[in-house]
Amino acid sequence: MDKQFLEDVKMGLSSSPKFLSSKYFYDEAGDKLFQKIMELDEYYLTDCEFEIFTSHKADLLEHFVSACELFHLIEFGAGDAFKTKVLLRYFLEQNVAFEYNPIDISLNVIDQLTVGMNQAFPDLALSPLNLEYFKAVEEIGRQSTCRKVILFLGSNIGNFTETEADNFFLKLAALLKKGDQLLIGFDLKKDPEVILAAYNDRQGITREFNMNLLKRINRELDADFNVSQFYHYPLYDPASGSAKSYLISRKKQQVRIGAIPATLDFEEAELIFMEISQKYGLEDIENYASRAGFRIAANFFDRRKYFVNSLWELK
Ligand code: AVJ
Repeated sequence: MDKQFLEDVKMGLSSSPKFLSSKYFYDEAGDKLFQKIMELDEYYLTDCEFEIFTSHKADLLEHFVSACELFHLIEFGAGDAFKTKVLLRYFLEQNVAFEYNPIDISLNVIDQLTVGMNQAFPDLALSPLNLEYFKAVEEIGRQSTCRKVILFLGSNIGNFTETEADNFFLKLAALLKKGDQLLIGFDLKKDPEVILAAYNDRQGITREFNMNLLKRINRELDADFNVSQFYHYPLYDPASGSAKSYLISRKKQQVRIGAIPATLDFEEAELIFMEISQKYGLEDIENYASRAGFRIAANFFDRRKYFVNSLWELK
């Protein structure tokens, strides 16, 4: 049993208002549900980033190459690297010297990715790291002085609050050298209906994705959530750019969590805050970059300008 998971659940569900961390969405079932989300018509983010990589791969490569004998393409939370393969294929075709360093805290993900990459790209210099992101960057820096290009895709940054994002960029900047780069996916502010639909899909996969965290707590922490007594409530506030999701109790009820152990009270309509998926304006992105000591080398957009991959270089 995961000690940190227990501590975080205990803390979140005894807070007021109650909350859970979306980083715990991704157990095996959660990974599968997120794969399904990425295939939904409403979930435009993945398609946008795929389009950006496809149409700007040559430009991206020009920015990445440096005077060093190679560059490190380091991907945070690589997953199955579906979008990154567009870049890898092109970079290999162009015969440029680079090493691909996918990083994931799930050993399972790293093992599967290694098998997949060896099959798809036998000539790829592949050096995966099953470490926490910052530890992995330090490790690569110890072994090589060449340019690091860090990929942080999919608007994963959106799950961070503004303070958390600032801290993340500052911590990263401290581990990088002048000229190292960061390619970050940011989902942009746009028609609120388009955004809300992406988090409120008709098939209810996003609802399942949220509910799965209650089921995970049942499975791993010996709890007795009756998931049918909660409903999923997603919302988007166009003023702040925050998409948020809640699970709301249908009635006054008690939930027992064996691993704490404790019995929790839920009032009728009491909410559990599950996730923030922040949307950005270009000025927000400039501010984040400059606060952390980066300059924006280029912004790459899809044709609808729904999404941007912003390329930052450490000054
Ligand atoms: C993986 C964090 C980018 O916030 O859009 C998808 C997760 N949540 N649908 C996002 C998610 C609900 C996703 N990120």
